Amino acid sequence: MYKTQTCGELRISDVGKTVILAGWVHRYRDHGGVYFIDLRDRFGLTQVVINPELSQDLANLVQDVRVEWVLQVTGEVKPRPAEAANENLVTGAIEVHAEKVTVLNTCKPLPFSINKEENTDELIRLKYRFLDLRRERLQQNLELRHRVIKYMRDFLDDHGFLEIETPILFKTTPEGARDYLVPSRIYPGQFYALPQSPQQLKQLLQVAGVERYFQIARCFRDEDQRGDRQPEFTQLDMEMSFVERDDVLDLVEELFTTLCAKVVPEKEIVFKPWPKITYQDAMDRFGKDAPDMRFGMELVDLTDFAKGCGFSVFENAVESGGNVRAINAKTLGSYTRKQLDELTEQAKLWGAKGLAYVKIAPDGEESSPFKKFLSAEKWDALLRLLDAEKGDLLLFVADKKAVVYDCLARLRVLLGDRLGLRDPNKLAFCWIVDFPLFEWSEDEQRWDATHHAFTRPVKADMELLDTDPGKVRGAQYDMVLNNYEVASGSIRIHERALQEKVFSLIGLSPEIARERFHQIMDAFEYGAPPHGGIAPGIDRFVMILANEPNIREVIAFPKSNAARDVMSDAPSEPMPGQLEELHLKVVLPEPKKQA
Ligand code: AMO
Ligand code: AMP
Repeated sequence: MYKTQTCGELRISDVGKTVILAGWVHRYRDHGGVYFIDLRDRFGLTQVVINPELSQDLANLVQDVRVEWVLQVTGEVKPRPAEAANENLVTGAIEVHAEKVTVLNTCKPLPFSINKEENTDELIRLKYRFLDLRRERLQQNLELRHRVIKYMRDFLDDHGFLEIETPILFKTTPEGARDYLVPSRIYPGQFYALPQSPQQLKQLLQVAGVERYFQIARCFRDEDQRGDRQPEFTQLDMEMSFVERDDVLDLVEELFTTLCAKVVPEKEIVFKPWPKITYQDAMDRFGKDAPDMRFGMELVDLTDFAKGCGFSVFENAVESGGNVRAINAKTLGSYTRKQLDELTEQAKLWGAKGLAYVKIAPDGEESSPFKKFLSAEKWDALLRLLDAEKGDLLLFVADKKAVVYDCLARLRVLLGDRLGLRDPNKLAFCWIVDFPLFEWSEDEQRWDATHHAFTRPVKADMELLDTDPGKVRGAQYDMVLNNYEVASGSIRIHERALQEKVFSLIGLSPEIARERFHQIMDAFEYGAPPHGGIAPGIDRFVMILANEPNIREVIAFPKSNAARDVMSDAPSEPMPGQLEELHLKVVLPEPKKQA
C-alpha cells in the first residue's frame, strides 16, 4: 500500500495516528535545520515536518529533495502549534512528523513553476502539458468538467435516455467545416471522413426506435481556430422522437438549470425561465445572435432618423442601402479624445469606416464631430432616441447592415467589460429561435443552410420553399450563454421528399445528394418518426463555468491555436512504408518564394 490517506484528508481528529502519505513535493522550506515539505496529491496538501533531532539520517536525505520529487512519507499526525495553523488549508490544523521518507522518484528542473501562477508561454505549457495539468487551476478545470459530464449522464439516464456510441470512421457529415479524412488501406483511393458531428447517426437511431439518445460525442472539424474552437471537441449530443420544439427546449433548460445549481452553486442564473428571443430581435438589440444578456447597452436603430439628417456620413450609408445604429455607453462621457481615437481605430479593425460619437461630459458639455451638421430639433431628437443624459457616450456606426451589427456588437462587449458589467458569477442563458432556414452565400451564389441541411422548415413557411426560400424560418434554436453560442439544434426533416427538396435548394444535385446521404434518405422511407435534438458544446460550456478565456484550458490535451499537438508534435510525417500501404503519394505545395 503506497498511502493510507490522501494529502487532503487529515484533520485535528486524526492527531496521534501513524499514516502513510505519497505525493509530490509542492514546496519545501528549511527553517534552521528543520525541514517543512508541503506534500501534494490530487486531493490536497499536507505539511510534513522533518526534524533532525528525531533522525539525522532523514534530515540528510531530505536535504537533496526538490520540488516535484515523488515521496512516500510515514509519520505521526500532530497538531500544529497555534501560531502555525493555516485556516486556508483544510489540513491546516495538523502536520505529519516524518519517521520514514522514501524517494519514489526525482524530478528534473521544471520548465515553469507548478506551485504558483505565472505567465508562461502557452506553447511551453502545451509541450509539457503533463506538468501543466498538475497546476491547481487546471486540476480544478478537469474536475469541473468531470462533474458537468457526470451530471448530464445522471440527469439523462433519469429521463429515459440511452447513451449510445456512434462510429468515428464514417462518411461526410457536413456542419460547415472541412472534413478530416482517413485513407482506407483495404479500399485504395477511398476515405472515411471523421464526423463533424454524429448528426445523421443520431437521426438514424430515431428511425431505429431509440426515442431518447445521447452521447458524449467527439466531433472533428477542420476549420479556422478561435479561442472557443478546437479541431476536435466534445458535444453532449442529444436526439428525441415525437417531440416539438418546446419539448426539447424545456428538457435542456431543466438540465442546465439544475446542473448549474448543483455544480456551480456560487453562480446566479439570471433568467428563469430563459427568455426566447427571435434571431432578428437578437440582431437588432445586440448586433449578434449570441448576445451577452448580463447587461443592457442595446443597439438603437437610427436608419430612419438618418435620412436627410444633415450629416452626410449617415445619409450616404442609408442611401446606399446600409444602416445607422448606435449604442449608449452610460458613464463613459468622461472619455478623452485619445480614448475615443483608440476606440475608432478598434472599430476600423473590425471593418467600420469610422466611429462617430456624441460625448456628454458629466457637467453636461456636449461634443461631437457631427453636431454642427444637425439642426437643433434633429439634435434633440437624436439624444432622446438614445436616452442620453449627462455623462453618456453615444457611439454610431453607419455602414452595410452586417458591418454595423458586427462592429457595435463587439464594441458593446468591449465596453461592457471595461464597465465591469460582465459579472462572471452571473449566467444569463437565453434561447434564440426563428432563424432563417437559409442564408445566401455570396461566394457560391446559392442558398446555404444556416444550421444544417437536416433542419425542418417551420410549418407556416413550408410554401415559401418554392417561392421565397430566403423568408423560410427553420425550426431551429440556439442556446446562448454570456456572449457564446453554447448549443444548436433543430426539429428535423423526416420525409424523403422534403429532404430532397432542401438538398436541391442548397445546390446539391440529386446524384450527389444520393451518393452522400442515401443512408438517411432511404431510412426516411421506413417509418421515420418525427424527431429533433440539440448538441451543447461541452468544452465551451465548461470554459464559461470555469471563467476561462480559452477553450484549451478545459481540455486535457488540446491542439495549439495552430492546430498542432505540441506535446507529441503531431501532425507528423508517416512512418516508412505507411503511404505505400495506403496507396498514397504526397504532392507538397511549392515553397513560398522569399520576399
Ligand atoms: P453545431 O455545429 O452548431 O451543431 O455545434 C453545436 C455546438 O458545438 C460546439 N462547437 C464547438 N466547440 C468547440 N470547437 C468547435 N470547433 C466547435 N464547433 C461547434 C458549440 C456549438 O454550439 N449536429 C448539430 C447539432 C444538432 O443539430 O443537434 C451541430 O453539431 O458549442
Ligand atoms: P469624417 O467626415 O470622415 O471626418 O468623419 C466624421 C466623423 O464620423 C468621425 O468621427 C468619423 O470617425 C465618423 N465616421 C466616418 N465614417 C463613419 C461611418 N461609416 N460610421 C460611423 N462613423 C463614421
